[in-house]
Amino acid sequence: MQHILNNAIRIAGLAGNKIKEMRLARNFTEQLKFGYELVTSADMASNEIIMAEIQKAYPTHRMVSEESADHDFSIEGPTWIIDPIDGTVGYANGHYQVCISIAFAQHGSVQVGVVYNPFLDELFTAVKGGGAFLNGSRIHVKEVSNLSQCVVATGFPHKKENIAAITGYLTRLLPHIRDVRRNGSAALDYCWVACGRLQGYYEGGLAPWDMAAGRLIAIQAGATAGHYAPTTLALPQDILGQYILVASPGVFNEMQRVLQGG
Ligand code: IPD
Ligand code: CA
Ligand code: CA
Repeated sequence: MQHILNNAIRIAGLAGNKIKEMRLARNFTEQLKFGYELVTSADMASNEIIMAEIQKAYPTHRMVSEESADHDFSIEGPTWIIDPIDGTVGYANGHYQVCISIAFAQHGSVQVGVVYNPFLDELFTAVKGGGAFLNGSRIHVKEVSNLSQCVVATGFPHKKENIAAITGYLTRLLPHIRDVRRNGSAALDYCWVACGRLQGYYEGGLAPWDMAAGRLIAIQAGATAGHYAPTTLALPQDILGQYILVASPGVFNEMQRVLQGG
């Protein structure tokens, strides 16, 4: 897996430099996908770089990217799962919580995760069974035992539907925790749990590319990952983004219970 990891890091670096350059030069355009979701020319440029580099290095591997046509999520064979920009709304608004997310999966599970934030030059990496790292140094979740010690992130869907249900979860959790964040990148939210900047993160509906790399990084840093409501999609657990909850192990059960309204 070292070869895969090295290539994923190299490719995330190339794409990261490109999107950073485009933003510094204000050289990107904005469009709407499906009538409600922002996508920029930087998302597309990043996608092109990543897909071309993976194709060159591993011509027989499958690639599933948010910005490409193949959205078949079987991960038995060697499969790359790519979010060319996670945090597009933040990207377009000059924020810094933006990343490239690249995961490699096979045999039904995610084996390698790379999440690179070019604006802060922070590289989160993990190989299954090998721990998690930030810029080469080992990272761990923060040890907490009580919800009142926790800063918890969440996220909201681009399509503004079922708002009452979404705010209902927040209403239940907020009185129990120290504070809440909406940082704008699911992949980085997972990584922030991994390195202890957050003690929990939950969100109602993620796509496999939002979570595949970040979830592995969080688990390899000691986080507990699961769900706060019953799931219905038939996807492998590692890329099943419905009602995801990830937290420091000492507070996972309590967070799940409170979100469920118990
Ligand atoms: C979004 C971000 C956001 C999350 C949304 C995702 P995008 O991804 O991860 O934090 O709340 O659910 O769709 O659109 O920036 O790639
Ligand atoms: Ca995303
Ligand atoms: Ca994206």
